[in-house]
Amino acid sequence: MRLHYDALVVGSGIAGLTCAVHLKKNGLNVAVLTKEDDICQSNTYYAQGGIIASSHEDSHELLNSDITSAGVEYNRKEAVDFFSKNAPSLVFDFLVDEIGIDFSKTSDGQIDYTEEAAHSVRRIVHYEDHTGDKIEDSLIVYAKSIGVEFFPSHTTIDIITNEHHSTDRQEIYKPREVMGLYALENSTGEIKTFFSSNVVLATGGVGNLFYHSTNPSFATGDGISMAYRAGADIINMEYVQFHPTCLYHRDIKRFLISESLRGEGARICDHDGVEFMKEYSEMGDLAPRDVVARAIYDRMARTGKDCMFLNLGKYYKGEKPIEERFSKIYSTCLKGGIDITKEPVPIVPAAHYLCGGIRVDLNGETSLKNLYAVGEVACTGIHGANRLASTSLLEGLLWGKVTAEEIKKKEYSIEKSRYDSIPDWERAVYTEEFDPLLIEQDMRAIQLTMWNYAGIIRNTKGLKRAESDLDYHSHRIMKFYKESKIHKKIVELRNSVVISSLIVKAALRNRVSAGCHYRSDEK
Ligand code: SIN
Repeated sequence: MRLHYDALVVGSGIAGLTCAVHLKKNGLNVAVLTKEDDICQSNTYYAQGGIIASSHEDSHELLNSDITSAGVEYNRKEAVDFFSKNAPSLVFDFLVDEIGIDFSKTSDGQIDYTEEAAHSVRRIVHYEDHTGDKIEDSLIVYAKSIGVEFFPSHTTIDIITNEHHSTDRQEIYKPREVMGLYALENSTGEIKTFFSSNVVLATGGVGNLFYHSTNPSFATGDGISMAYRAGADIINMEYVQFHPTCLYHRDIKRFLISESLRGEGARICDHDGVEFMKEYSEMGDLAPRDVVARAIYDRMARTGKDCMFLNLGKYYKGEKPIEERFSKIYSTCLKGGIDITKEPVPIVPAAHYLCGGIRVDLNGETSLKNLYAVGEVACTGIHGANRLASTSLLEGLLWGKVTAEEIKKKEYSIEKSRYDSIPDWERAVYTEEFDPLLIEQDMRAIQLTMWNYAGIIRNTKGLKRAESDLDYHSHRIMKFYKESKIHKKIVELRNSVVISSLIVKAALRNRVSAGCHYRSDEK
């Protein structure tokens, strides 16, 4: 099947949906593809803490300074400035006034601003402790109501470029440009060709490459891997942020314990009840994430324990009862036998967010013509070496909007006849049947390699070991990819090994510890 759209958006989190909504409102015919069956499945859906919004106590200078201190001044200054000036008001102008989201309020009916680590003022709005699903569900309803088309259960395999795919030899003498993408319909196995002069990647992050992660298993770096193969610039891949507090539980995996618990008073302690954060930073429990994650990791190593604890019940300073303010965390932990109002929660640090990605400018444009990237998959440079909490949803909101505006302004469209030179996906004659166990085994090997050798604390020896292990896996996985019947899980596995190698190579090259890239053998 060959389909044509003015714009294609891959990924359905806040960045992709915002971009699609603005494209549609600007009169473009837009389709959103997601590899998941349920459109809402995205990292956005699982965001707990909240989103920075304008507040009377705040100023763009103060926000600039908090973002750049957390990012160790590695941030792209003009992007931070652009963000601080333009993004916070969008929460009210777009999410509240247009989409109709009702964020949590105090008992006197005012917006309830909360706090998180490394913020100088309370500037984060939230919906209890499940802000992400509220935003995600509301955006989907709105996008559907204005006629955005959705293709759920469609796994994008590769970006189409004239240079890589055209059968017209003249195309290689033209500048390289993106012309669409190939996507697998998961249920039928059909590979469709989607054409467009505007492809927006909004595929999220890479958390699933690590053994412990707060991300769902679909966070396999698909967009970065496709953009890399197509020839786009990828930067800052060593800056993988680890969240200090992921629930440590035998049965409940990948469940975040939001930083806003510490914003509302919670303190970290060890198995003997010793609250140790002041030993690592003057800012104590509210030190930037990288500092807290390393402190917990260090304490675990020193004491030989598998986890540390977070005590909310004893220190909570919020107005509403814990059961209401942190309703999702309370009920999830209770299902696992932990009452957070009465006892400390076992926690471990876990891979959470990629600060690097596909290099984009202030308009969301990548280095490759017709290719855009928004949200976690993109590197706008605002996070530098470490992201300030609650900036990511807002970054998606701002760049989703400006990217749509840029596409509209550009008004470029590839002549229809040029698409005729793009063939349908070539189906290889496959010899291997899809075997979920093999995939699972390879994925687990990658996750352990990344966690042990390219995780919270890194050194040359470990990174070299990771590099050679990944080379070995990569060789086998690429062979398997070519010989097997194509399947979503194989596409994800290929992307995972590509992205893991990019992270390890970037971490090896960069010998300077800064933010979330920490080298124990720094020279
Ligand atoms: C959290 O709620 O702790 C996560 C917020 C974020 O990653 O920005």
